[in-house]
Amino acid sequence: MGHSVALNFADGKTFFISVNNDELLLNAAIRQGITLPLDCREGVCGTCQGQCETGIYEQEYVDEDALSERDLAERKMLACQTRVKSDAAFYFDHHSDICNAGESLKIATTVTKVELVSETTAILHVDASQHTQQLQYLPGQYARLHIPGTDEWRSYSFANRPNAENQLQFLIRLLPDGVMSNYLRDRCDVGQTIMMEAPLGSFYLREVERPLVFVAGGTGLSAFLGMLDTIAEQDNAPAIHLYYGVNTEADLCEQQRLQAYAERIPQFSYHPIVGRGTDTWTGKTGFIQQHLDKDQLAENAFDMYLCGPPPMIEAVKTWLDDQALSNYRIYSEKFLQSNTAKV
Ligand code: FES
Repeated sequence: MGHSVALNFADGKTFFISVNNDELLLNAAIRQGITLPLDCREGVCGTCQGQCETGIYEQEYVDEDALSERDLAERKMLACQTRVKSDAAFYFDHHSDICNAGESLKIATTVTKVELVSETTAILHVDASQHTQQLQYLPGQYARLHIPGTDEWRSYSFANRPNAENQLQFLIRLLPDGVMSNYLRDRCDVGQTIMMEAPLGSFYLREVERPLVFVAGGTGLSAFLGMLDTIAEQDNAPAIHLYYGVNTEADLCEQQRLQAYAERIPQFSYHPIVGRGTDTWTGKTGFIQQHLDKDQLAENAFDMYLCGPPPMIEAVKTWLDDQALSNYRIYSEKFLQSNTAKV
């Protein structure tokens, strides 16, 4: 039985391969048509270098000129010397096309439901079971969806974890006049076909090994729903703090689902923040960074994930710089309001 291994590249493409217990990662990739760059195959030249982002692995010979002690501590690895011991994800800092990796998977999905979850947000449910194998993606990644009747494609983060039934969800902001928004409002029917390209993106859940701070702006929440679904299935999750910012109370969505994570993830805390609260809103207001707790963050090293509009992400990063905290890793994904592009 092989391990499922994600190979992620700098162009945002991800390819999944199966790696046998006794097999070198490089050989498994080549066997499945992904020709990672190589030269010596002996752990000396460093050409096949990547970085392990999740999972357990071992390396055979690694020359000190190929990877330093510091590199090894950062989980950098040589594909020609690596054997995986669990499902895993590796990142290679070059484009996938130099590996002849081909195109991302394009498959037909079927609309099963359009669920209005706030005044401005819908969840599009699609059935991808025409694809007979379980669709593989990393929690937090996104897909491109073709909008029927147009030449347009739009990008949306998966709002649930991969599952054997290939039932997929996407959280979508309904704009007054957007190509996808108009389709969902005016023409979308259960049973229609939507083409999907996936998986894509370098924003995904890394090894969960220390406290996590999730910062979501608007439908940036979608990526975190997939991550939280995944973490809820794991034992011994560290503390996880979710900050979810929206413009108005009416934009908040999936509140019951978010509250329910607290029952499944012991150290989960949830902080909705409304930019402009109404008289009935008694919760937090303003900007997300006004509600981050510097003292709490300074206690332990943490990983911060940010997904949302560019101004929100820049504001939180500026706040972190101003606090002079140095005990964190940061991963972010910006998107434009129309969700036409991940930037
Ligand atoms: Fe030279 Fe792997 S190919 S170190």
